[in-house]
Parts: sequence; C-alpha cells; structure tokens
Amino acid sequence: MVIIDGKKVASEIRSELKLQVDLLKKEGKSVPGLVAILVGDHPASKVYVNSKAKACDEIGFKSSIEKLDENISQTDLIEVIKSYNNNKDFHGILVQLPLPKIINENDIINSISPLKDVDGFHPISVGNLVIGNDTFAPCTPAGIQELLKRYNIETKGKHVVVVGRSNIVGKPIANLLVQKKDFANSIVTICHSAADVSIYTKQADILIAAIGVPNFIKKDMVKQNAVVIDVGINRIEDKNSPKGYKIVGDVDYDNVAPLTSFITPVPGGVGPMTIAMLLKNTLKAYNNLR
Ligand SMILES: NC(=O)c1ccc[n+]([C@@H]2O[C@H](COP(=O)([O-])OP(=O)(O)OC[C@H]3O[C@@H](n4cnc5c(N)ncnc54)[C@H](OP(=O)(O)O)[C@@H]3O)[C@@H](O)[C@H]2O)c1
Repeated sequence: MVIIDGKKVASEIRSELKLQVDLLKKEGKSVPGLVAILVGDHPASKVYVNSKAKACDEIGFKSSIEKLDENISQTDLIEVIKSYNNNKDFHGILVQLPLPKIINENDIINSISPLKDVDGFHPISVGNLVIGNDTFAPCTPAGIQELLKRYNIETKGKHVVVVGRSNIVGKPIANLLVQKKDFANSIVTICHSAADVSIYTKQADILIAAIGVPNFIKKDMVKQNAVVIDVGINRIEDKNSPKGYKIVGDVDYDNVAPLTSFITPVPGGVGPMTIAMLLKNTLKAYNNLR
C-alpha cells in the first residue's frame, strides 16, 4: 500500500511554479497576480484567504486581499469584482465562499470574468469542463487528478466511483475523469445520499469520497487493492489534543488503508493540493491574458 503524499506533491508544484516566476522576473516581465475577495469576518474564510495570499507571496506572485464589510450590497460587491475584471495587475480573481446570506452566490460568480475565473466555478468554465475544452478546473478536483497523474495511477477504463455530487468536488472530478483524455478516460459513477452507496463503492477501482461525514467509508465498502482518495476534512472531538479536536477524512483510514493499493491520508493528502492548483490556474490565466 502506498500513502499518497499530497504535501510533497503540492510543494513540488509550488517549486515548479516559482521557477517560472523567477524566469519572468529575469526577463523583466510582470508576474501573475491573484486577488482574493473576502466579505465579512468568517474566521475559517480569513484563514483560507490568508493561506492563499501567503502561498502566492512565497512563489513570487502578486497577491492582494480585498476585505469588504459584511453588510456590503450585492451591487457594490459586483462593482468591486468588475474593477478587478479590468485590472491588468490581477489575472485571477477568487471570491471566498460562503458569502453573507443576503447575497446571491450565483450572481457573484457570474460577475467574475471567465478569463480570470481561477476557482473554475463560473458556468462558462463548468460548461467547458463538461465538453472537454481546455478551461479552469476547480482546484480540489484538479488536485485529485494531478495526484493520480504524479503517482502514475492508471485511470483509463478504470471504474471510478465518486461519493458526493457537490459542484465544487463531486461533479467536477467526475467530469474531469470521464473525458476521453490522458489521466482520465474512466468509467465514472456518481453516488449520493438518495441510496445506500456501498453497492457502488464496492465496485470501485478508484474510490473518491467527498461526503463531509467523518469515517463514512468502512472497510466492507471497499474492494481489495482499490485506490482510495479521501477529500473529506472533518473536525471531531479529541480530548488528547491540546485543541480538543482533530481532523479526519471521510474514510475510516486505519481499517481501510491495509486493503488499498494507494490511499490519501487526511491531513496531508488532497488538502494541500487545492492551493497548489489555484496557483497553477493563476499562472494559466496570466499566460492566457498576456
Ligand atoms: N481542499 C480540500 O481538500 C477540500 C475542498 C472541498 C471540500 N473538502 C471536504 O470534502 C468534503 C465534501 O465537501 P463538499 O463541499 O463536496 O460537500 P457537500 O457540498 O456537503 O456535499 C456532500 C455530498 O455528500 C453526499 N452525502 C452526504 N451524506 C451521504 C450519505 N450518507 N450517503 C451518500 N452520500 C452522502 C451528499 O449527498 P446529497 O447531494 O444527496 O445531499 C452530497 O452530494 C467535506 O468534508 C469538505 O470539508 C475538502
């Protein structure tokens, strides 16, 4: 059994990107820029946005956090986004979700220029992904595909079972892996809470769990030698930890891992890949806009 080291792969990607930025600087060119728009004071969102900005700084990207009052109107927020759509210093725009309830998330995502949609949530990016056109893939699914690729895990003709159908993980990873392309070309099943998923998970050559329920996937739900990708990030109580909690995935790791050929741990598996792919998408936006 191989434990997939997402932290290591993410760090390799950052180093590769840094080399490209160093080259741009050497040639006297501008560098890729990413702006993160943060509305309100949501503590987890602040942490996410700060770590994205830090990751940009570390590889030499320009970064900015646009902090907006939680009472900002939808119209004013769209005006801010439009100003970044026209700002040549920023090639990627991300709006940190969730937004305050009074704001319509879809309207906000629709107002981001598809050319700068580095989160890959704009309907144009989603449509292009489904058709198989080159586009911005959402960062977590793109990170999963990158892990499969870098660990030389065969996807062609393999049965991939995705548990979860969210727009940010389940649906896009299914759409990426079903494409008739390298590092894809899989037979894909998506399942969700409308039925008992174990009938499907047991058939998976590659099982992707994006559920949000701690330790949901048990060993009797997994085929011998399956590849298991655990997207879940769940906090559970842990009296032995100084923080009082620990982070676990959607897979009952200790019992499932011995059965598998490859498995991602939590933390340190899929998680670190998300920001690395965001940086990659930002460089892609920069290259497209140049
Ligand atoms: N960077 C990262 O590593 C990263 C990024 C994003 C998310 N995550 C983590 O990944 C997990 C999933 O995130 P998400 O945003 O995709 O979650 P989500 O929007 O809540 O979607 C969860 C999906 O799981 C399905 N589900 C829930 N209970 C189920 C059950 N008992 N049987 C079968 N399916 C069930 C739901 O089915 P229904 O549609 O029928 O409700 C839904 O489709 C979370 O732990 C999240 O924190 C990690």
